[in-house]
Amino acid sequence: MRNQPQSFINSKLIFICCSTLVLLIFFLKRTSISSSSVSHSNTREEQHQNTKCPSQCTKLPTSLSDALVHYVTTEITPQQTFNEVSVSKRILDKKSPCNFLVFGLGHDSLMWASLNHAGRTLFLEEDKAWIETVTKKFPSLESYHVVYDTKLKDSNKLIELEKTEDCKSVSDPRDSKCALSLKGFPADVYETQWDLIMVDAPTGYHDEAPGRMSAIYTAGLLARNRFDGGETDVFVHDVNRPVEDEFSAAFLCRGYLKEQQGRLRHFTIPSHRSRSGTPFCPADKSRRF
Ligand SMILES: C[S@@+](CC[C@H](N)C(=O)[O-])C[C@H]1O[C@@H](n2cnc3c(N)ncnc32)[C@H](O)[C@@H]1O
Repeated sequence: MRNQPQSFINSKLIFICCSTLVLLIFFLKRTSISSSSVSHSNTREEQHQNTKCPSQCTKLPTSLSDALVHYVTTEITPQQTFNEVSVSKRILDKKSPCNFLVFGLGHDSLMWASLNHAGRTLFLEEDKAWIETVTKKFPSLESYHVVYDTKLKDSNKLIELEKTEDCKSVSDPRDSKCALSLKGFPADVYETQWDLIMVDAPTGYHDEAPGRMSAIYTAGLLARNRFDGGETDVFVHDVNRPVEDEFSAAFLCRGYLKEQQGRLRHFTIPSHRSRSGTPFCPADKSRRF
């Protein structure tokens, strides 16, 4: 009689222990499954963040942070003043990313390429050694070496070409009969539709220098010959000098002048291709520089 309750207590104890063990194993397993699935989904989330980062996150692109650090630490200041740079910056704010052609590689080149972030900025430079110096420091800058066959001392003769039909005719610069048309650039320069063109080269401060006569003329021709119908903003620096003043007035036209800030002139030139009969310069001659 005394053995029966004892055996009942023993089996009850065994039952409770086994149930507790089963519950414990079940609980531990669940915890481990859920913690591994959380850590897995966190990794996936991070990976997803990383892959979408280049296009969607607010991280500053390395090229822009490099440019920022360069200009903050350099002792060389670009030649254009704050007010002059602001003129083309305002247009880049609206048009970039876009196609930007710059005559001349200089201390401001990294700034132009950065302001046109994700667009194409191409520099045309006459000095091979200078290209090597600049692109060694800033390998991301795209530049072509170009040869000019004009001399500043011939500019008084060349301005007479303003009156000739050959120079008023709009065509691809490679097909132009005007002696001011630059024909030696890589094909890509003639085939790209440039949204902005900055003429800040070639050198033009002594008689034997090439001067900017043909660069100004060709910039105007590229704008007029644009086949996508777009307008081109053309900028000329150093208009305090006779060549930049006279050639920009003659070939980029007073009627296309938007503004002048310091030594910088800004012209907006429409495509002439889609408007047959458009005069080389618009009739408005009232504007004074
Ligand atoms: C008239 S500068 C204007 C450059 C630009 N606005 C700037 O602030 O640097 C343009 C031309 O000067 C020449 N140039 C500029 N800096 C130079 C340098 N340190 N050494 C040699 N040539 C240089 C290049 O041939 C270039 O095309």
